[in-house]
Amino acid sequence: MFYINENFLRLQDSYLFSTIAKKVSKFQEENPDKKIIKLGIGDVTKPIVPAVLKAMHKAVDEIGTSEGFKGYGPEQGYDFLRKAIAENDYKGLNIDESEIFVSDGAKCDCGNIVDIFDENSKIAITDPVYPVYLDTNVMGGRSGEFNKETGKYENIVYLPVRSENNFVPELPKEKVDVIYLCFPNNPTGTVLTKEELKKFVDYAKENKVLILFDSAYEAFITEPNIPHSIYEIEGAKEVAIEFRSFSKTAGFTGVRCAFAVVPNELFGYTKSGEKVSLNKLWNRRVTTKFNGVSYVVQRGAEAVYSEEGRKEIKENIKYYLDNAKIIREGLKEAGFTVYGGVSSPYIWLKVPDGMKSWEFFDMLLEKANVVGTPGSGFGPCGEGYFRLTAFGTKENSIEAIRRIKEVM
Ligand code: MLT
Repeated sequence: MFYINENFLRLQDSYLFSTIAKKVSKFQEENPDKKIIKLGIGDVTKPIVPAVLKAMHKAVDEIGTSEGFKGYGPEQGYDFLRKAIAENDYKGLNIDESEIFVSDGAKCDCGNIVDIFDENSKIAITDPVYPVYLDTNVMGGRSGEFNKETGKYENIVYLPVRSENNFVPELPKEKVDVIYLCFPNNPTGTVLTKEELKKFVDYAKENKVLILFDSAYEAFITEPNIPHSIYEIEGAKEVAIEFRSFSKTAGFTGVRCAFAVVPNELFGYTKSGEKVSLNKLWNRRVTTKFNGVSYVVQRGAEAVYSEEGRKEIKENIKYYLDNAKIIREGLKEAGFTVYGGVSSPYIWLKVPDGMKSWEFFDMLLEKANVVGTPGSGFGPCGEGYFRLTAFGTKENSIEAIRRIKEVM
């Protein structure tokens, strides 16, 4: 008899973005003449920049020759890319290339990292939260049952981020082993200052807690005193793994390339109190379960750091940040209370009084033919909020706001 992993049965419905995609397809089937504007899932629309394309074309030609052909690459990523990441993204932060693990996505890294957790690790997440952190721990058996009344899983510690606390999570009040933080935040688009993040680092050091810091949106930071990397905080290398991605920075959502930083100073513990290097543990996991990102893609990622690449990518980021401004300001004019969208491609708005997030989703889809993401899909504290992304085209961002104003 084949027994399944019953933890999966605790998961709620389907993955948030799959539920939305299904709803939207159904609406489009029933209304084929409607022009839907999708500002739901944070998927980019600008094409891959010329510098990256050039590097990828070159790499394609190279692997078509006997001298340039590449078979299996190093599971952790080619040295040229690990070096480029260490020298550029972590300049002055003393991150060594051996601490960088190139992967096919930050979503995959965030999901896979749980392999190195104890099955009883107590997990803290912010609420609302990027659903991958929570769902992968539910799959791994680190949650209790889902409580329909509270909208929360038992045995998971939720750290609210909402307007009442200025979207700054408080430190956990009970003992936890792992804390997930994502800043600039998905979904709220808000940021933490260095002082605010330092509180978490100090807490983690004091309590031997592991922080998983997702900084997939760091390229969108426009404000001063906002850390791009958790390693800007003293002592963070002893407590944190950082995830980054080329997806939103360089339009790689389809190309796929990201990386995790697992510092050599970072240790976990066995039940008998023995210290174990997380870098070694993660390396063991990666070499066993992964065969690396393709050479062509890694050469493309390397070109992100070239002078040309940097310039071109900066323009794309500016394009999305301009969209964020259009959406943010437009929503304010329409009378909405709006958060985020300054150092982030996400705009988090309060839905009109008396409405639930999913009701607002349905109303917007039906009346304005605009797709966003209901805040409640990210956790109970997201109820009453709604997320729009700035990753669409400028024309669609303008048109979406025009339509929203019309129906409000
Ligand atoms: C989102 O919309 O939250 C993101 O696109 C999800 C992701 O990066 O996987």
